[in-house]
Amino acid sequence: MPKYISKIEAPKVSIAPMIDRTVRDFRYFIRLITKRSLLYTEMITTHAILHGDRNKILDFDLSERPLALQIAGSDPKEIYEAVKVAEKWDYDEINLNVGCPSNRVSGHMMGAVLMAYPELVAKMVKAMRRATDKAVTVKHRIGIDGTGILPKDFKKVHFDQYEDMKEFIKTVEGSKVDRFTVHARIAILAGLSAKENRKIPPLRYNDVYKLKKEFPYLKIEINGGIKTIKEIEDHLKYVDGVMLGRISYDNPFTLAKVDQFFKKSEVNNISRREIIEDMISYVEQVEAEDRSGYEALRHTLGLFYGKAGSKQWRQLITPPWPADYSGKDILEHALEVLPEESLEERSI
Ligand SMILES: Cc1cc2nc3c(=O)[nH]c(=O)nc-3n(C[C@H](O)[C@H](O)[C@H](O)COP(=O)(O)O)c2cc1C
Repeated sequence: MPKYISKIEAPKVSIAPMIDRTVRDFRYFIRLITKRSLLYTEMITTHAILHGDRNKILDFDLSERPLALQIAGSDPKEIYEAVKVAEKWDYDEINLNVGCPSNRVSGHMMGAVLMAYPELVAKMVKAMRRATDKAVTVKHRIGIDGTGILPKDFKKVHFDQYEDMKEFIKTVEGSKVDRFTVHARIAILAGLSAKENRKIPPLRYNDVYKLKKEFPYLKIEINGGIKTIKEIEDHLKYVDGVMLGRISYDNPFTLAKVDQFFKKSEVNNISRREIIEDMISYVEQVEAEDRSGYEALRHTLGLFYGKAGSKQWRQLITPPWPADYSGKDILEHALEVLPEESLEERSI
């Protein structure tokens, strides 16, 4: 089979899809901090796209781009239809979720369990390809332990060795994947919660490096436990891109430094004060739409992580707010009372 060499450049840094986190309000906030990183939606099922309130689910603001839509599904025909629907929204990329370890998701043959069904994944990717000219990518784990989830008569239940991942990639790459994002931990499908599955199985970065070495023509992005600029720099010696998950939520201000990986001159020189000033008009807009200001602000809880004023910031923006205070009032008050040194600190 001829090799597929994607012409689409891998982003050096992306911000991982996270349910209930990487929603529009989060993406607006995070885009103030990193202008270049690829952002993701949270995982959206084909069922939701085909039968839900599409505008609510798929609308985004152009300022969020580049933006990838992450889809979870198990039926090539439904995936095709869902991607066709999403075409109208003009996302930059469509990503298939082959990494979610949750029982509920595996029970519907979606997410990480699909690593045991590479032919099906290949069919889904082909269907996505037929439906769009946009980048088509796959996010997966280095492997799975399918004990208790895969059918009893299935060929095997452990797909947790490097060679298993290699077989997966060999089967799927032929359907023309523009990038594989590899969460460098296996998923244990029964017995661990989704949260535990992001902590307990050990990180195996070397498996991801080896994959890039053995398939140098594929675009490979690494994910899992990456927290610092130095770590990003180190990973980029071996792979094409780095995906950051929890750190973007826990300590978002770190992301002001990541644009340098796209272009040295493009470090986003911004202060927390400027971020909050921008959020004032955003929260006004949110409240004008009759949504709660806290909904927009909850994604900024980590803005002062490790800095003077961190606890105060979290307390200020967390309800209950003083009577008659709007989100704007809260933010203006924060600018008056938070320590100057943390407000004025700049990324460079
Ligand atoms: C709250 C939360 C929700 C997540 N939801 C998704 C999701 O919708 N789709 C997905 O592929 N991964 C999801 N993940 C996994 C992340 O994308 C990422 O792979 C994982 O957190 C490891 O990266 P990190 O160590 O940098 O956080 C989620 C992670 C968290 C913490």
